[in-house]
Amino acid sequence: MNAHPEVMFDLGGPIGRAASDAKLDRYAAAFKQCGFCRWAVESRDGAFLGYSGVMPSHEDHPLGPHFEIGWRLVRSAWGRGYATEAAKAALHDAFARAGLGEVVAYTSPDNRRSRAVMDRLCMQRDPSRDFTADYDSVGTWRGLVWVAGPEAPPYRAQSAVRERGSPKPG
Ligand SMILES: CC(C)(COP(=O)(O)OP(=O)(O)OC[C@H]1O[C@@H](n2cnc3c(N)ncnc32)[C@H](O)[C@@H]1OP(=O)(O)O)[C@@H](O)C(=O)NCCC(=O)NCCS
Repeated sequence: MNAHPEVMFDLGGPIGRAASDAKLDRYAAAFKQCGFCRWAVESRDGAFLGYSGVMPSHEDHPLGPHFEIGWRLVRSAWGRGYATEAAKAALHDAFARAGLGEVVAYTSPDNRRSRAVMDRLCMQRDPSRDFTADYDSVGTWRGLVWVAGPEAPPYRAQSAVRERGSPKPG
């Protein structure tokens, strides 16, 4: 997934095995620290479809300390509702089990598919928190910010991810 040019278009292009493994290590460390992270998204028969889940922010993030939900799917899994379904389950877990008070999401202005997921989740756009950050992989990156709180009804939806039991770190 992380080696696919179209999947990684918005994020500085494909990355290799070492960089991909480093991300997984970061997710595992977050799971140890917080009890949640990016979760693996799988089909009912166990095929890997991608990830969705909440991560604590990097120390030096321009938004300051926060929790951020992200999603990424293998190209063949786009257009089937899996990202939205998995994000609902991850937000439900973040609010109902982990007790977070707020989760943000951000994406670049031209990432139409990611923005559509935020809309489907009924996340609230918060332009006052838009930011720019410098990343080695992409240079200066502009992030538009959306916010979710525990009271919003979509996160209470049940999902296939939850029916299968606890999600695995992804
Ligand atoms: C962003 C990303 C995860 C969105 O995936 P997605 O499949 O478009 O999003 P959803 O899971 O919400 O699926 C919605 C689509 O599935 C369709 N769909 C088909 N069956 C469906 C069903 N049973 N239920 C719901 N939607 C369904 C919807 O109509 C919609 O189609 P459309 O794109 O033609 O409007 C994906 O494009 C991706 O991995 N991009 C690369 C990584 C990335 O940019 N991540 C975000 C960084 S900020």
